[in-house]
Amino acid sequence: MKPTWGALVINWLVLSGILAKPGVLQQIEHLESSNSPLLRYPTQFSQGIIPKQIHSHNDYWRDVPLLTALSYGVSSVEADVWLVDGTLLVGHEAAALTKERTLESLYIQPLLKILRSQNPTNEFTVNQTRPNGVFDTSSGTPLQLLVDMKTDGAATLPFVLRAIEPLRKAHYLTTFSNGVLTKSAVTIVGTGNTPLEGIKALSPRDIFFDAPLTGLVNSNTTWDATLSPLASVDYEVAVGWNGIGNITDVQSASITSLVEQAHDLGITARFWDTPGWPRQARDNVWKQLLRSGADWLNADDLQAASNF
Ligand SMILES: *[C@@H]1O[C@H](CO)[C@@H](O)[C@H](O)[C@H]1NC(C)=O
Ligand SMILES: *[C@@H]1O[C@H](CO)[C@@H](O)[C@H](O)[C@H]1NC(C)=O
Ligand SMILES: *[C@@H]1O[C@H](CO)[C@@H](O)[C@H](O)[C@H]1NC(C)=O
Repeated sequence: MKPTWGALVINWLVLSGILAKPGVLQQIEHLESSNSPLLRYPTQFSQGIIPKQIHSHNDYWRDVPLLTALSYGVSSVEADVWLVDGTLLVGHEAAALTKERTLESLYIQPLLKILRSQNPTNEFTVNQTRPNGVFDTSSGTPLQLLVDMKTDGAATLPFVLRAIEPLRKAHYLTTFSNGVLTKSAVTIVGTGNTPLEGIKALSPRDIFFDAPLTGLVNSNTTWDATLSPLASVDYEVAVGWNGIGNITDVQSASITSLVEQAHDLGITARFWDTPGWPRQARDNVWKQLLRSGADWLNADDLQAASNF
């Protein structure tokens, strides 16, 4: 584009010191059009995204699993895994499985890639003891990955343990070892058919157990955050209020007491199977849960939950 006479005159006035230096907007424009290394922020993958206590229910249903959730700041995702001929396939039911969509390809490899970019190794990071997580605005917030085992738990667990080895090797996994819980970038929690005894026996432990929220007290298991950072329950069964009209005192008290039981043990509480429709009812239930201290919004509509 040919500069206008006006621009040439202004340039001349600036260069000859008659006019002040270019203003801040002109300087920004100039820098943006340059290729300056000053402008490339190193860990910009999730720049500006605020993590939220939202659980992406059946995350693999979305066109782009994991990344779509992260783009909304969702800090918990769920993958249903099926052990088929030695491979961990991801999908809701048998008809939804393909050879390409594996725990490895949809979750482990993308996470490795993101975490490597958030954790450059150089002279500035030599003293860093804990890896950064996926969220640049809150590098200490772990991503919770729920692995919902759909096939036999005892058979599936060893394959999941093997699949997460690259994350383990890079020290990206929250681990309980020698009595110490060390948080890292990703906290893996087994649910579905995950075998409790198998998880208890892990030492060190880097897969945790999704505890039964209605079975934390008077249990034969000593529940705590080193075994279960998360406890869940079917909302429909445990509470049942459909979000229309007033919640009863009994329903409201059952949410509060379940949340308290979890929190007393240092465990977070999640209610799944909350109403999805009508929208007003869904929102009323979410509001009630948050008011009562529930830690996670279990969501199918991530956009709605993140705008909540
Ligand atoms: C790392 O720690 C060493 C020893 O305390 C110190 O000399 C060095 O300046 C530190 N480096 C950075 C980047 O903080
Ligand atoms: C605890 O274990 C005993 C003995 O195995 C069993 O009878 C009981 O039902 C168990 N209680 C719970 C709450 O699981
Ligand atoms: C619902 O609760 C509100 C506020 O406590 C009360 O004013 C209203 O009468 C209640 N509605 C019904 C149908 O009980």
